[in-house]
Amino acid sequence: MTLALHGGAPVRAVPWPAWPPPLDAAQRELVTRVLESGQWGATQGGSVVTDLAAAFARRSGAPYAVATGNATLGLFAALRGLGVGRGDEVIVPAYTFVASATAVLLTGATPVIADVDPDDLHLSAGAAERAVTSATAAVMPVHLAGSPADMDPLNALAARHGLAVVEDAAQAHGAAYKDRPVGGLGDAGVYSFQASKAMTAGEGGLIVCRTEEAYREIWSVCNVGRSPGGAWYGHPRTGWNLRLTEIQAALLLPWLDRLDDEIDTRERFCAALERELATLPGRPVSVVPRPPGTTRDSRHLLMLRVEPEVVDRTFLLAAMEAEGVPLDAGYPPLGTMTALTAEGARVEPCPSAEEAARTVVWIRQPMLMDDTDGPAQVAEALAKVLTSRA
Ligand SMILES: Cc1ncc(COP(=O)(O)O)c(C=O)c1O
Repeated sequence: MTLALHGGAPVRAVPWPAWPPPLDAAQRELVTRVLESGQWGATQGGSVVTDLAAAFARRSGAPYAVATGNATLGLFAALRGLGVGRGDEVIVPAYTFVASATAVLLTGATPVIADVDPDDLHLSAGAAERAVTSATAAVMPVHLAGSPADMDPLNALAARHGLAVVEDAAQAHGAAYKDRPVGGLGDAGVYSFQASKAMTAGEGGLIVCRTEEAYREIWSVCNVGRSPGGAWYGHPRTGWNLRLTEIQAALLLPWLDRLDDEIDTRERFCAALERELATLPGRPVSVVPRPPGTTRDSRHLLMLRVEPEVVDRTFLLAAMEAEGVPLDAGYPPLGTMTALTAEGARVEPCPSAEEAARTVVWIRQPMLMDDTDGPAQVAEALAKVLTSRA
């Protein structure tokens, strides 16, 4: 038996649910059909890729969709398709995955790293406003952890300054803001199907957008500069092969039928854990609140704020791991990444992202899929570690 850091049996001795979950019958059937058809690519559009794009367009309330290789490329294609390029600036939040900023770099534009809201850790409309210059071309709200960013103030800011809005919905399949699905709230929205995401094909991405003009441009970026319906060797624009395959789409399309049930499971986990945390004396750990306007949180991650004076963070992470309840240290603030500043990223003051990097830890999605024993075990491990802290 593995002993916990301070002795005794770990709180959780059995593995957490695996991610991705086992293939279901519909996935098995569709993947097999695609494999046996020999039509694995989607050069001509692809039938399953087309169905997947149409399903996402329907679900997100945005009329157009383009499937792509991953969300980094999807964000790049969306920005480029909306006309963002060299000499432009794009405002991104300081507390997000690095790809939100590196996608901007791919277009030749400059990422401008603005602070997040101190409570919900999503892009702050106030900080974004302060970051606007005459070069600003777009703003990229990130629906962090599956919680929708508070879009109304960000869309209003974009309207005031004539900016494009590209939603980074990489973590937020199925989430909704004021009862409207994320992805369809700005000019374009981008989902990821990378291995850790709520729907995955190992890799993959999908862009939804609002206008036919944007669709034609974004489609072209992802299809070697061709025009939709145009000549095979006609390349009126510069574009690349950024396509998803039929095999990936066959894993993803049936997943849409169970996405909502899986979100419900994670939501039950989060609600139960929140109740458990409220019973810890002094409430040393709290759930990071969702932004205003959240009506459906896809619960990709659960972010917890741990009061820094209560426990040393390195000890907490090691001790929780030893209890069989691994937590994640979360993002370093983007502005501290020298790889980004070396490429010219502009960094605004970001005290809230810096505070989050010191105080916030995450529970990852696979753990949230155990809504029976999971919440009580996380709370028990936290209570044990906090009372025995170094
Ligand atoms: C917020 C965010 N944006 C962008 C990405 C990039 O997605 P992908 O890995 O599909 O390129 C990720 C995924 O890791 C993400 O979490």
